[in-house]
Amino acid sequence: MEKVFYITTPIYYVNAEPHLGHAYTTVVADFLARWHRLDGYRTFFLTGTDEHGETVYRAAQKAGEEPQAFVDRVSQRFRKAWELLGIAYDDFIRTTEERHKRVVQRVLQRVYEAGDIYYGEYEGLYCVSCERFYTEKELEGDLCPIHGRPVERRREGNYFFRMEKYREWLIDYLQTHPDLIRPEGYRNEVLSMLSEPIGDLSISRPKARVPWGIPLPWDEAHVTYVWFDALLNYVSALGYPDDPRYATFWPQAWHLIGKDILKPHAVFWPTMLKAAGIPMYRHLNVGGFLLGPDGRKMSKTLGNVVDPFALTEKYGRDAVRYYLLREIPYGQDTPVSEEALRARYEADLADDLGNLLQRTRAMLFRFAEGRIPEPVPGEELEEGTRLAGRLRGLVRDLRFHVALEEVMAYVKALNRYINEKRPWELFKEDPGEARAVLYRVVEGLRIASILLTPAMPDKMAELRRALGLREEVRLEEAERWGLAEPLPLPQEAGVLFPKEAPREAAKGSREGQTEGTKEDRSISIEDFAKVELRVAEVVAAEKHPNADRLLVLRLSLGNEERTVVSGIARWYRPEELVGKKVVLVANLKPAKLRGVESQGMILAASEGDKLALVTVEGDIPPGALVK
Ligand code: MSP
Repeated sequence: MEKVFYITTPIYYVNAEPHLGHAYTTVVADFLARWHRLDGYRTFFLTGTDEHGETVYRAAQKAGEEPQAFVDRVSQRFRKAWELLGIAYDDFIRTTEERHKRVVQRVLQRVYEAGDIYYGEYEGLYCVSCERFYTEKELEGDLCPIHGRPVERRREGNYFFRMEKYREWLIDYLQTHPDLIRPEGYRNEVLSMLSEPIGDLSISRPKARVPWGIPLPWDEAHVTYVWFDALLNYVSALGYPDDPRYATFWPQAWHLIGKDILKPHAVFWPTMLKAAGIPMYRHLNVGGFLLGPDGRKMSKTLGNVVDPFALTEKYGRDAVRYYLLREIPYGQDTPVSEEALRARYEADLADDLGNLLQRTRAMLFRFAEGRIPEPVPGEELEEGTRLAGRLRGLVRDLRFHVALEEVMAYVKALNRYINEKRPWELFKEDPGEARAVLYRVVEGLRIASILLTPAMPDKMAELRRALGLREEVRLEEAERWGLAEPLPLPQEAGVLFPKEAPREAAKGSREGQTEGTKEDRSISIEDFAKVELRVAEVVAAEKHPNADRLLVLRLSLGNEERTVVSGIARWYRPEELVGKKVVLVANLKPAKLRGVESQGMILAASEGDKLALVTVEGDIPPGALVK
């Protein structure tokens, strides 16, 4: 049977800028989509924006803009945020699109014709921010439990959906499908909501009061209530009812939501589906709140939001993604802060993972001629091949933070393994065994990088590139030992998670732009003086015996000669170099490049495909300092 996966986020109201609370659910959805793609599932990932209703209409008025122009603009901000965070959605639906409106009207008509919609009068306590009426029991004191603001008593002519009629059916469905709503605490909450009458649902607003919405197909004087409109995005985006994507993906739908929108998704939506003759979704996954520094739900109204744009700019998208997934136990309220992000960045990403890559590369150049050694069995590190299986279970159970914790524990074990085996000492007695140790570490890194790909897609591709491994991977490759091939590593690789970069970037970020940006990138004269640059004359040059890209140069420094290996074979023939005066970094630690020790490095300028050596004019003798 084909493996299929459909994942949705809530569609976000366009009355406010995206904040980290919105970003969280979207990152979780992207993680799940990438995880399933990696595991061979045919996957569809939907997100979008919720653009109708009273709150949005008021926000547009307040901004002094036409509603359509306003929603176009704010919807773009969400797209932009998701682009910055590397969110690879398959579709972005907007409820003001024709394809969506058509489906809403079609479903309304069908439910109306079936007799499940009637006209009546409603009176109740309404929170305009939530776009919903509250029962007195639900209020906190006299205030809206979410916004802490006064509610209004309202009375108006509405159409109603016969929701109460489906209450018993829904209870029954929840009892026979215990994993429909997860984590379990939220399922119990819904069952308790359903233990008393839920009443019928008002699903329209008089157009005279709220002109911004989808007209009811049988009565143009009313527009559709925003929830009845919005929930249908999950099927309209799939091209309900005729598009084959609907038939393929809908039965495997996983919804991700925040706990504040539990009732619409756990009560309105299932009963709407039932009345419309659409089968039920597969899972409703309920996340907790991200809490601001004040310990309250992060929200624009409370003014305690963390800006995902600034964080991404400062730490990089993968660090933000990793932090959210690693730190927050799914379903629980969790405080978040930049300090906590930085701590994770430094400990987990820079010190454990980034450092592991860097020392592994350094040792491969020193002890294995800059290539991955021949495959050997994995000994205790082969344990890593069992992680994928365990992670499948954890991801299915929404325990993402534990999944990442397990991979990072393995990364720590790889670091420990190096410390215990001490390849630098081993190399002196038994170079073969030293290379075997390094091979196991590379394999471990390869496996860890695959498992971390859904959380950090860019950085893990970069990590694999730095080891000369293939960038494209599948999850099952993490279940097999010995797939790293004995190929050379690229000479250059940046630091995966630089510790200093975040601070520098912070200064340069849009909001934080201040004078001093230039100074902050600068080094002191003492720093510069640490680099010993000298004029060196090429006295001999030949091709490297084991590498086409490399030349081996013999350089004179006047009273001393050096051998230097340089990756310039594409641009210079050995014979044309002899006699040139070049600039040598003379106090660089020696390194073996494909079997030949290089005692320093010569400078060259390059841009794209071009390269030119830095040479010294005039009558300067070899050995002279360059400063
Ligand atoms: N438009 C509706 C959803 C319609 S879905 C058919 C809506 N939009 S929203 O923009 O207000 O919220 C979208 C989601 O963001 C909700 O799941 C909400 O829980 C989530 N979050 C908003 N603030 C949040 C936190 N501080 N923490 C975690 N999630 C938060 O509701």
